[in-house]
Formats: sequence, structure tokens, C-alpha cells
Amino acid sequence: MLLSRLLARKPIAALRDDEDPSPHALKRSLGAWDLIFLAIGAVIGAGIFSSIGTAIAGEVRPDGEVVRLGAGPAVVVSFILLGVVCGLAALCYAELAAMIPHAGSAYAYAYATLGEVVAWIIGWDLILEYAVGNVAVAIAWSGYLDSLLSGVGIHLPAWLVHGYFDAAASSDPALHGLLETAPRLLGLPLIVNLPAFLVVAAVTAVLVLGAKESARANAVMVVLKLVVLGLFVVVGAMHVEPANYTPFAPNGWTGIHQGAAIVFFAYIGFDAISTAAEETRDPQRNMPIGILGGLAICTVIYVVVGIVMTGLAPWETMRVSDPLAHALTTAGLPVVQWLVSAGAVVSITAVLLVFQYGQPRILLGMARDGLLPSRLAKVHPRFKTPSTLTMLTGAFVGIGALFADDDATYDLTNIGTLFAFLLVCVGVMALRVIDPARERPFRVPFVWVLAPLGAAACVWTMAGLPPSAWVRFGVWLGIGMLVYFAYGYRRSVLGRRAA
Ligand code: ALA
Repeated sequence: MLLSRLLARKPIAALRDDEDPSPHALKRSLGAWDLIFLAIGAVIGAGIFSSIGTAIAGEVRPDGEVVRLGAGPAVVVSFILLGVVCGLAALCYAELAAMIPHAGSAYAYAYATLGEVVAWIIGWDLILEYAVGNVAVAIAWSGYLDSLLSGVGIHLPAWLVHGYFDAAASSDPALHGLLETAPRLLGLPLIVNLPAFLVVAAVTAVLVLGAKESARANAVMVVLKLVVLGLFVVVGAMHVEPANYTPFAPNGWTGIHQGAAIVFFAYIGFDAISTAAEETRDPQRNMPIGILGGLAICTVIYVVVGIVMTGLAPWETMRVSDPLAHALTTAGLPVVQWLVSAGAVVSITAVLLVFQYGQPRILLGMARDGLLPSRLAKVHPRFKTPSTLTMLTGAFVGIGALFADDDATYDLTNIGTLFAFLLVCVGVMALRVIDPARERPFRVPFVWVLAPLGAAACVWTMAGLPPSAWVRFGVWLGIGMLVYFAYGYRRSVLGRRAA
């Protein structure tokens, strides 16, 4: 009985018939290029602008303990490997997204393929990808805002642009010293990332009021990102100092592996476009093209940016929250640095919007299925947005962004997302066995080779994360299981129907 409840699968037909959150069905207007643009809009952000710094330089705690080794200039190898890891997972996503075009996220796919408890685990896990991920994105945003303002002579105090845990984990004496020197509130050091909090609050307000991700606004953002990174590459390439490329891989294979595990963050998001399946023309054809095309373009961009960046400054100096700006400053290019910082602020805002938009909609699906309280699924009578869940998400991300350490946040997001990818790879295989006859508009080629390889590739990437990430991930999943057995197990719509 227990087992059959845990493994209960939501019929795919039910997924297709699910009511749309908005009062009107969404128009099918997106083509393959729109999806590629959406993917680039969701993907290029904090990862390439910020987490790349730690991937190159590694991380050392204030007490000298090495958290991870840096890849150095060999970060380009990390990017290429990640392109393969994500390509394999993307193929599996594409098969599911095309098969279940109404369903949205990996949560819904899992409900149809692997049963309720796995779906819950993925849904809970996706909070790491979306909400916790956005904590890191907001911190990166703040880092570039700070660098932008410094360029015009406005210097915010350090205790207002870093979170407490960021200062506590930093081996930079000035930053770590804030624990002693920051102003005190009720006896505790006041070290808060105020800009990160404020941008989350603003984005949340916009989403509650009903901003839709508009394909046109997104296209403008994408062009801007490409222009900014293009500027970085073209101007940077003329100032490369070849000596910076040796040693190419200062920490060998381990550095490449551990670097890949953190800079994986830069690839997160291409899976998010599968949530646009409902608005896609001929999703069976366009979804796979959009996902894989977007991924290929991003991989090329990352490799080129990585090559130029590691040529501009010594690899050990890159562990800052605005490493592209740092590289340009080191190379003596303050004007370009300012332009790139300005572009980064705008680009990163776009990513923030996409994930802050996606999270409440995943939670909405879970609340509709009875795995979360159904009153959370309320749609605002005037704005027609899932306002309660949008504000809850905003509060969670905003408070996280005030205090968190960016590297620890990247780790937790990455491990959670990789775990969801892993389950998607397994899910594709499971569904081929459980439901072989169902129409598959897109099929993973050589599925029995590529899907297991994808699963293994996800595990390999996860293995490059530090032990602290595994501990936090275990705690998060443990809390999730408690919530499921205390609530969803008894209240789920599927379970009550079966009873
Ligand atoms: N890939 C997204 C970013 O780098 C999450 O910001």
C-alpha cells in the first residue's frame, strides 16, 4: 500500500488536460529561434559573469583550508566537458518536453514517469535550482552594481554589499575583517547585501503586478548580453598577456573537475525553457531544436570568454564577485570595465526575472496536485498572477540574498539541479520501459547509451563539489521528506482519488 502510494503516477493524459494557471489558454506563438533566445536569456548570467571567478581561482577558507582547487586557464576544458554533460541531459529533457508539451517542469515529468514521491523530491529539489539559485544571481547582480558605481566614484560601504556569510567565508582580510569592523546591531555585526535584497524585492513586485516574460523584451536583453560579452572578447583579446596562460592547468585534472562543478551554474536554465512548451508552435519539433541549439551557442560563448578572461589577469586573482570587471581593470581598461559592468547588471536582472517567474509556477503545480496547501495556489483576482507564491518566493530569495555566501549558494544550487537532471535521465529510460508505445515526437538517439551516460555525467559533476554541499543537500532533502510525509502523502489529489 505504502509503496503503491509512493509510486503512484499521474496519467500523462491528466497532465495534458491540466487547467492553465491563467484564465485564458496561452497562445502558441514561439518558434525555435524564440526558444533559443529564451534559453540564452535564462542561461547567460551570474554563472559566466561571476561563478567563473571561483572556478578559475579555487577557494580557500580564512583558516587556510582548501575548499576547492581552481582550474586556471583550463577552465575552458571545464566548459567543454559541461557542454557534453548538459547536452546529454538536454536530450533527455527534450524527449520529455516534447512528449508532454503541457506539463512544464521536471516535476511534472517525474509525476508521470517515476511516481509521486520522486516527483515531490524533484519539485522540492527544483527550489534549489530556482529560488536558491536566484540568491546567487542576486548576489552577483550586487557585485556588478558595486563595480559600476565605483566606476563613477560612488563607493558603498563593504558591509552593505556583502552578506554576513560571504564575509565569514572569505579569505580576503579586508572582507573577513568586517566581522570585527562592521557596525553592530543588537551586538551582532551588521553585514548585509542590501542591493541584492532590493533587486529581488523590485523583481517580485513587477511579477506580482503581472509582467509576462515577453519574447520581445527578452530578445532585447539577449542582444545586449551578446554585445557586452562581444565587447569583452574583442577588446580583451587585444590585451591578452600570453604569460597568463602558463601554467595552463595549475591544479591538473582535479582543478578542471572542481572548477566544472561550480561553473556548472552558468549552464543552468536551458532546462527552464521546457516550461514554455505550452506556448510553443509545434513543440515536438521546436523544443529539441531550441534546447540543444541554445546550449550549443552558450558553450561556444563560454569557451571564448574563458580564453580571453584567463589571458587578461593571473588566474589566482580571480576569486571576486565581478571577475570580468576585475580582469579588465587588471589589463588597464577602465572604460570597457564600466561598460561590461553596466551590461552585466542588466543581463543578470533578466536571469533573475526568469527564475523568479518560474519558481511560483512550479510550486503552483505542486499545490494544485495537493502536495502543498491548495490555498497557496490562489491567483490574484485583479493581476491574474500566482501572487501568494510569488511573494513567498520573493521573501525567501530576498532574505537569502541579504546574508548568503555566493560560492556556497552556487554549490547548493548546482548539486540540486544536477540531481534533477540525473532523475530526468533515469526518467526517460523508465518511461521507455513503462510506456513504450506512447508517441515520442523526439526520441533520444541511442537512448540506452546516451541516457546512462547522461546520468553518469551528472554524478561525475556532482562529485566535484565540496563535502559541505553534500551535507547541505542531504539536510534539504531530509526536510523535504518530512514535509512530504507530514503533508503531501496524506493530502495529494492523486492519493485521495485512489483511496
Ligand atoms: N545560468 C544562470 C546564470 O548563470 C542561472 O545566471
